[in-house]
Amino acid sequence: NEGEPKFSSPDTLPILQQAAHHLCDLQETVVFPTETVYGLGAVATITEASSKIFSAKGRPPDNPLIVHVSSVKMLKSLLPPDYLFSEAYQVLMKHFWPGALTLLFPRNSDVIPTIITAGQPSVAVRMPSHPVARALIAVSGMPLAAPSANTSGKPSPTRAEHVVKDLDGKVPLVIDGGSCGVGLESTVVDGLQGDGNIRILRPGGVTVEQIEAVLKQDFPTGRAPSVLVHKRDYQDEEMESAPTTPGMKYRHYSPSVPVTLLCTLSKPAPDQASQSIDTFLASISSPSKVGILAASDSKIWKKIKDIKGYHWHEFPLGPTSTPSLIAQRLFDGLLTLESENVDLILVEEIIEEHEGLAVMNRVRKAAGTTQWVWYE
Ligand code: TXA
Ligand code: MG
Repeated sequence: NEGEPKFSSPDTLPILQQAAHHLCDLQETVVFPTETVYGLGAVATITEASSKIFSAKGRPPDNPLIVHVSSVKMLKSLLPPDYLFSEAYQVLMKHFWPGALTLLFPRNSDVIPTIITAGQPSVAVRMPSHPVARALIAVSGMPLAAPSANTSGKPSPTRAEHVVKDLDGKVPLVIDGGSCGVGLESTVVDGLQGDGNIRILRPGGVTVEQIEAVLKQDFPTGRAPSVLVHKRDYQDEEMESAPTTPGMKYRHYSPSVPVTLLCTLSKPAPDQASQSIDTFLASISSPSKVGILAASDSKIWKKIKDIKGYHWHEFPLGPTSTPSLIAQRLFDGLLTLESENVDLILVEEIIEEHEGLAVMNRVRKAAGTTQWVWYE
């Protein structure tokens, strides 16, 4: 799809035009919904505009931004004129764009300012599927740089209320598009390394299984590129320690309340003890309001009924069989429990398959501590 999306809803067009005016004429930021999480957007090709993203979020300047486009034509206008899409990228774009997949491309420094890429030779680009996001980009006629619309280090917002609570007074305009359907950020993919492999820099809304399936389907038998998952299949020391490091080195996704990961599936290391939930809670400085996030069919809900002395704030995420629902509610759960002023949030681990991989990536970064617990 090379063309721009059609967008003609009579009541939303004036809002989009007003937002486009903020973005393009005033060079301001605008918060808009995407299918993954809310984005804090500014025109990507204008340094002055994009710098306002960093100040509103308190974002470290060495963490590069994703550029959002509404068409392949717009994407091509950002890339080096002689650039050709690899076969793997063609397959990924055909199946997952528009959608929750971000791809790294070589940066054309004539078009993409240094502030966007934090000096990296690549630029991350995604075409969102949310109709408001894509229409806003199309009406603006400009690519929009947009990180998640939260203060750096906080959970990403999946509802406009989350944004208003976090960034009130720091952003001039928030477009409310309701709840985000995916609820976790896009999957960031690097296919530029020259060995033909596809590296998952950040697991997200499009799963590793889905990526492997389409590559296997569209490449001749045995010729599909390998999909390497960061920290499982490869370590990128340079990416993690150099000042060019993308967001992975920063503490992330943490509400202002301490978060503890409860491991009930994985095995503790030989020197780590496993204890019951009651013993663990009794061992820390007596919280009174305890928030808890777990699969809706977890044994934990029955278990906590027997643990007296705490006010439980329950936030069931979704059934174990549907990790996409768990993903959709995770950030909402963290932010909702935070707004209920709990003293502590417990999150129970889920299986790291499908959307579960991205869920556990976020939970691990949110958690200050990890506990191995058992059910009697
Ligand atoms: O779903 C999403 O991706 C959302 C919505 C708003 O589109 N955006 C988002 O942006 O999550 P942000 O800034 O919160 O996360 C962008 C991630 C960071 O981990 C950043 O380091 C990485 O993408 N990234 C951006 N440009 C990169 C590049 N050139 N090379 C490697 N990683 C890059
Ligand atoms: Mg973010």
